[in-house]
Amino acid sequence: MMAGGGGSAVAGGPALHIPVLGFSVIEFLQPRNGCVYIDATFGAGGYTRAILAAAECKVIGIDRDQTAIALGADLVEQSGGRLTLIEDRFSNLDVVAREAGFDAVDGVVLDLGVSSMQLDSAGRGFSFRLEGPLDMRMGGEGPSAADVVNSVSERTLADIIFSLGEERRSRSVARAIVRARTDAPIETTRKLAETVASAVRSRADEIHPATRTFQALRIYVNDELGELVKGLQAAERILKKGGRLVAVSFHSLEDRIVKTFLVDRSQVRAGSRHAPELSRAAPTFRMLAKRPITPDDDEIARNPRARSAKLRPAERTEAPARVGVAAGLVPVLPSLADVPRGR
Ligand SMILES: C[S@@+](CC[C@H](N)C(=O)[O-])C[C@H]1O[C@@H](n2cnc3c(N)ncnc32)[C@H](O)[C@@H]1O
Repeated sequence: MMAGGGGSAVAGGPALHIPVLGFSVIEFLQPRNGCVYIDATFGAGGYTRAILAAAECKVIGIDRDQTAIALGADLVEQSGGRLTLIEDRFSNLDVVAREAGFDAVDGVVLDLGVSSMQLDSAGRGFSFRLEGPLDMRMGGEGPSAADVVNSVSERTLADIIFSLGEERRSRSVARAIVRARTDAPIETTRKLAETVASAVRSRADEIHPATRTFQALRIYVNDELGELVKGLQAAERILKKGGRLVAVSFHSLEDRIVKTFLVDRSQVRAGSRHAPELSRAAPTFRMLAKRPITPDDDEIARNPRARSAKLRPAERTEAPARVGVAAGLVPVLPSLADVPRGR
């Protein structure tokens, strides 16, 4: 089901990143004429193009990557005033919307993780397959992955790699990294990939041995899980009654957060004598699917990156946004602010 259908033609443009589960995103977001949507992870603008094409609506596109925002300039031009692009983090999406003149919006979509443009750009340092500086920052601010691997303790490295990469051999990997960096700092993706491969053997049919370590460092450097928790809460604050939240995640850590948040928010929160600050509260969301929506075989064949995608849709109720989230949603790790910066 495609809602609206009245949007003017802004659906063209090069496929720098193939949007994942694009049809389902539009099906659940239900873009309508005269409404306002936030594409909180603009990337190459795949979802934004589809939303603008589905209805005569407005879109606020947010991305923390200035390259993505700059590349979207043509789309802003073509949109005839219907698209506003803002470089920011999605944890701030309610503030961004208010500053753009909207006190409430009709939909928020989150397409988590990195884009193909970021992954395939050697200079960004996200890929263990491409030689490049060990950077991994989506937004360019804060410590890089090189700063992390060259400065934090072996114990902290192991904790990061275990909890954010789900790497069983995290201790061996951390030990190998610390041994390697005593000879010379680890500054490139290749050096890190080789160091990890020296500690983790994998069979030919398994994923590359550095996959989990790279995932962990990327999530840590960009505080991706903290951003996700705050982004979901910001969406809760800015969505109007009946507004839709659509979140697409790519690994179990992200999906667990989205699921736990939506399950919690779709239930009555009982008041508690022991935690009086948690007063009895009505559900703020209604889940629109019991199970996550996943890509079919055709989509996976066309776009292998879609393989692990899970989409969870929900609809905002009229209840006031709640404060706080369940404890333990995000693994506790040393703050990024404590990582010394080399460059
Ligand atoms: C998977 S891509 C989105 C692709 C997009 N849906 C499309 O169809 O082209 C994810 C994008 O979200 C951005 N991003 C990730 N975390 C972010 C955050 N916390 N705040 C803002 N942007 C973020 C990344 O920089 C990247 O461009």
